[in-house]
Order: sequence, then C-alpha cells, then structure tokens
Amino acid sequence: MSFKFPKSSEIPTEFSILPIHQKEYLIDGELKVWEGKMISVHSPIFLEESGKPKQLEIGSYPAFGATEALAALASCERAYDGGSGEWPQTSIENRIKAIQKFTNLMLKERDLIIRLLMWEIGKTHKDSAKEFDRTIEYINDTINALKAGDRDSSRFVFEKGILAQIKRAPYGIVLCMGPFNYPLNETFCTLIPAIAMGNTVLFKPAKFGVLLLEPLLKCFKEAFPKGVINTLYGDGASVISPIMESGKIDVFAFIGASTTANIITKKHPRLNRLRSILGLNAKNPAILLEDCDLESAIPEILMGSLTYNGQRCTALKIIFVHEKIADSFIKKYLAALANWKAGMPWEKDVMLTPLPEEGKTKWLTELMDDAIAKGARIQNVGGGEVLESFMFPAVLYPVSKDSRLYHEEQFGPLVPIVPYKDISETIAYVKESNLGQQASIFGRDPKVIGKLTDILVNQVARVNINAQCQRGPDNFPFTGRKDSADGTLSVSDALRAFSMRSLVAAKDDEESKQLFREILETKASSFISTNFIL
Ligand code: G3H
Repeated sequence: MSFKFPKSSEIPTEFSILPIHQKEYLIDGELKVWEGKMISVHSPIFLEESGKPKQLEIGSYPAFGATEALAALASCERAYDGGSGEWPQTSIENRIKAIQKFTNLMLKERDLIIRLLMWEIGKTHKDSAKEFDRTIEYINDTINALKAGDRDSSRFVFEKGILAQIKRAPYGIVLCMGPFNYPLNETFCTLIPAIAMGNTVLFKPAKFGVLLLEPLLKCFKEAFPKGVINTLYGDGASVISPIMESGKIDVFAFIGASTTANIITKKHPRLNRLRSILGLNAKNPAILLEDCDLESAIPEILMGSLTYNGQRCTALKIIFVHEKIADSFIKKYLAALANWKAGMPWEKDVMLTPLPEEGKTKWLTELMDDAIAKGARIQNVGGGEVLESFMFPAVLYPVSKDSRLYHEEQFGPLVPIVPYKDISETIAYVKESNLGQQASIFGRDPKVIGKLTDILVNQVARVNINAQCQRGPDNFPFTGRKDSADGTLSVSDALRAFSMRSLVAAKDDEESKQLFREILETKASSFISTNFIL
C-alpha cells in the first residue's frame, strides 16, 4: 500500500495545529474553568517518527461527572423557567438578532474550525470547508424560515364562532447530541432550530469533533442570554444518565446509533413528556437495473459509497447489480476508484483518509473476513489493507446473504456488491431490512423505474433516481422509516420539531374582539400580536 503517514516536518504550516487543552465550559452564561479530570483527544492522523507511525495527541476536554451535568441542567431550567424565562418570552425578532450575532462571530472562527475538523475526524479540507459553509447556510435558511412562519401565524382565524391566533411555542429543555461524522453541521441542524423556537439547550458534542466547538463557546456566550446554551463534556454514561433520569428533558435530539438512542431514551422516567428527534442507522442500497447507464452511474455510486470513507449515514452501503452487468460494473467502478487519492486531509484532491474511531479498522477487517469466508472476494489490489487508522477501501463481490456485511451497517470503506437475477431479490432485501432511510435506483426503463419507485417509497423515506443517496438540499425533508429515524428534519421541519402549535382562543363576539384590540394596541402580549418581521 502506498499510503503513509507524514513526518511532522511535512505538515504544511497553514494546516498545522497546536494542541488545545480545553478547560472552559459554558454554564449559566459563564465560561467556567474545569480543574478536574480531562479526556485526551487523539487525532486519526498519525505522524511518522523513527520510521513508525505514532498517534498524535491534539488536546483534551473535561470529563464531567453527575454533579456538573446536573448543574448544567439546572442552568437550562433556570433560563427556561417553565416558559417564563427571558429567552422563551422574548420576541422572534430578538431571537433572530441573537442568532445573527452568533453567526457573525462564528464566521470569524472558520479557518480554525475547518482545521480542527481535519485533525479531529480526518475529513478532507474540501469537505471540512463544505461542512462549515453548509452550516452557515443552514442557519441563514433557518432565520428565513422563522420569518416566513412568523408572517403566516400573525393573523387571527375565525372558525365556528371562535376566534383564535395559532402560533408555535417551545417545548422547554432540549438535549442535543450530534454525530462524529458531521460534528458541526448535524449538531447545529438541531441546536439552532431548538434555540430559535425559544427552548433552552443542553449540548453534548459528538464523541469525536469536540475541540472544534471550543472556539464557539465564547460566541455562544456573547450572543445568547445566560443559560440558553450549556455545554456538557465527558463520557455519555456519567453525563447523560443523570440528566435523563431527572425526567426534566422535554426533547431529545440525537443523531447516531439506534442502540445508543434506545439506552438514553429508556432512562427518562416520563416517556410521554419526552419528544425525540432521531437520525439513526441506515444501510441504503443502490439498485442497478440491467439497462443502467454505467458511465453516468459509476461516479454517483463511487461518491455515494466512499465519500468521507463511507462514513455518512446516507452512504450507499450495499450495491445490488443485475448479474448481466456485474462484471462490467465492477471493472468500471474499480477503474474510477483507482483515480481516488489516499492521503492526509490537507492534500490536494485527496479522497481517502484515516478513520477517527479507535479500533474501527480492526472491526471492519472482521466484517470483511466474514464476507470472504462466506464467498466474497476482494476485487481491488490493496483492498482492505490497513495502516493503523487507515484502511484502503475493499470492494467485495459476490457478497452473500448470510454474511454480516449484507446486513450490518459498515459505516466505513467496505463496498459490498451483491449480484441479483430478479428485481424481487432487491425488493425482498429492502422489505426485510429493519432500516429504511433511502435507496438509489440506476436504470433507464420508465416502466420498471416507476413500478420500483412505487414499492420503495413505502419502504424508505427518499428514492433517488440515477443519483446517490444524500441529505441535501437542506430544505428537503430528511427522515427515515423503521429504525432509521424518528421525526423529520429539514430547515422548516426542524423548526416544527422543536415547537408545538399553541393557540389563544375566545368567543367570536364584540367583547372578545375589543379585548384583543386593546391587547394589540397596548402591546400587552408578544404571543397575541399581529406584527410580523419584514
Ligand atoms: O451522516 C448523515 C448525513 O446527514 C448525511 O448528509 O448526505 O449531506 O452527506 P449528506
């Protein structure tokens, strides 16, 4: 394998990083200094020292215990104050101003955050920059959606002798936990809408991608009133358990593994109080029909299966190919893969990089070996070779139904290819799967594609035609069926997910109308108001 880790002297200055020992945490609007136990952060990027790869420590962060976790919860509670706090009571206009202030401050940290994304999770420079910019765009779109929603709800409705004003109100205290593969974007896709709707938030960074949030602590502090955002650091069991067991969490926003979501949710003693917004596991199939145009399909399937080393929830994680085109598909797929460069995240045109999860390459090797033992062969030279945290993608064919890789989500650079004779075999896979996020169909025949789409739309949440699976554009609904998701996220759906419709109603008579007129004229209420943001 030509892949190797760099020497320290080979790191370009503009991408180098100094260790960040993050002791500060945000609680009650203050940046407090942690003096307790710290958790080390190791980069997936090793450095070559005396001819051997050595893992690099790039910083550390606090290891909270139950006391600190409960203090953060108490800060959140005080700020929400049963809905009477400053933040849930303030106008949408003021919330938008605070979010805009935060965004402007965040933009100043762009370069450092991008570098930290590269060092903490091994994402390429191009994709790290994309993650940052997409997050800013998401925040701006959220502000616009908030304004549009405010305009729509600013009028009174009259129905069957009742007059009412229907608006959206916050739920209360939100616990936000994001995933390591999009530690900035996916965390902010729940955190920002949660705050925008007037909730207060407890925010625990993902397992990897913690330090990159450090530059944002001061931005949160400056932009939002005290207690609106409180940060939690440390091991999930020590920090999340006491918070959930308190029964005070109103919304649990989590992107990650379904098993983890279940463990956390079950700790809540009042499950009917708890709303959940969950983005969970997926094993999205690509289905290549006999007549598919391989030239245009290959780039989509390659990007879909191996972008960020296959560590996307939307990645194509199993490829069904009609047996008549299997050989030519594999040949073309491998030819395209051969042009993909492996290396360090900062290298120009690099596509394949080291993996952040400790022990991941070992686990993937086990999955690969199991598929091989059950009849698959590695199709590409160097496929599955490992150097510490780096694994060169292994293209495996023919992967059989009884192998683990057929069922388990690899979330890494393994590409299982399954030949099929009849389309019913692929439909059976989708129906039998406990996951149901998305699927991709590649083909040309409108009748076949139309029929297959009709079946798949009732099994997954998005069917992509001649295109890879993906979350974006962020205004589209992003969800899943079965064990893949609970709730829908998109710019506007997220605002709905973190709020409920609440209304004020009265008899449609002159007396009520006069009372409402006076409330409006004297601006006695921010809920009962016909003003809207221009
Ligand atoms: O990891 C799951 C992400 O939501 C995928 O987003 O399709 O834009 O890469 P993406």
